[in-house]
Amino acid sequence: MTPIVTRRLTLRPMSTADAGFMLTLLNEPSFVRNIGDRGVRTIADAESYITVGPMASYGRFGFGLYLVELTQSGASIGICGLVKRETLADVDLGFAFLPRFWSQGYALESASAVRDHARDAVGLRRLVAITDPDNTGSIRLLAKLGFGFERMVRLGDEHKELKLFGCDLSEPRAIDTREDK
Ligand SMILES: CC(C)(COP(=O)(O)OP(=O)(O)OC[C@H]1O[C@@H](n2cnc3c(N)ncnc32)[C@H](O)[C@@H]1OP(=O)(O)O)[C@@H](O)C(=O)NCCC(=O)NCCS
Repeated sequence: MTPIVTRRLTLRPMSTADAGFMLTLLNEPSFVRNIGDRGVRTIADAESYITVGPMASYGRFGFGLYLVELTQSGASIGICGLVKRETLADVDLGFAFLPRFWSQGYALESASAVRDHARDAVGLRRLVAITDPDNTGSIRLLAKLGFGFERMVRLGDEHKELKLFGCDLSEPRAIDTREDK
C-alpha cells in the first residue's frame, strides 16, 4: 500500500519499528477507556501486536490500521485505518491519537482520507464504525464524516454494548470535509 497523503499528514503502513510509539498509544488512559486494554506492556508485546494485527491485515485484505505522521516533522501522532473483524459483516473505520494532538483537526483530516480511500482504492460501498456510547469525541467526528447511528451491537459475550454507525460510500459525500474546497 502506498502512503495516503493529506494537507498536513502522511498515513503509512506500520512496521515493527513503530513498536515504541504503539506501546505508548495503546496504554494511553483514553485508549484503554474508549477502546480497550490490549495487554501490550513491552516493546516485544507491541511488535507482536503490530505483526498479528495491522501487518497481517495488510497481507490478508490489502488494508489495515495505518500510522499517522505529521508530514512536516515526521512525528507519529496516532493511528487511523480500516479493520475487518470476524464479529462484524462490514469493514470498520478505526482511529486513535495521542492526547497532545487532539483538537487540531488531525483526526478528521485522517479519517476523511481513509473514508475516501475505502471508497476509491479499496472499492467499498459501505463503512461502519463502533464506539463506546460515552465516547462523545468519536461520535462527533463520525457525524462530521457522514456516519449515522444504526443500532447497538455487542462484539462478544463478555463485551459491553457499543454504538454502531454506518456510512454509505455509494452516495455523494454528505459533508465535504476537504480543507481546500
Ligand atoms: C476520538 C478522537 C480521535 C477525536 O479527536 P479530536 O481531537 O476530537 O478530533 P480532531 O482531531 O478532528 O479535532 C476536532 C476539533 O479540533 C478543532 N479544530 C482545530 N483546528 C482544526 C482544523 N484545522 N480542522 C478541523 N478541525 C479543527 C475542531 O473545531 C474540533 O473541535 P471540537 O472537538 O470542539 O468540535 C480522540 O479523542 C482520540 O484519539 N480518542 C482516544 C481513542 C478513541 O476514542 N478512538 C475512537 C474509538 S471509536
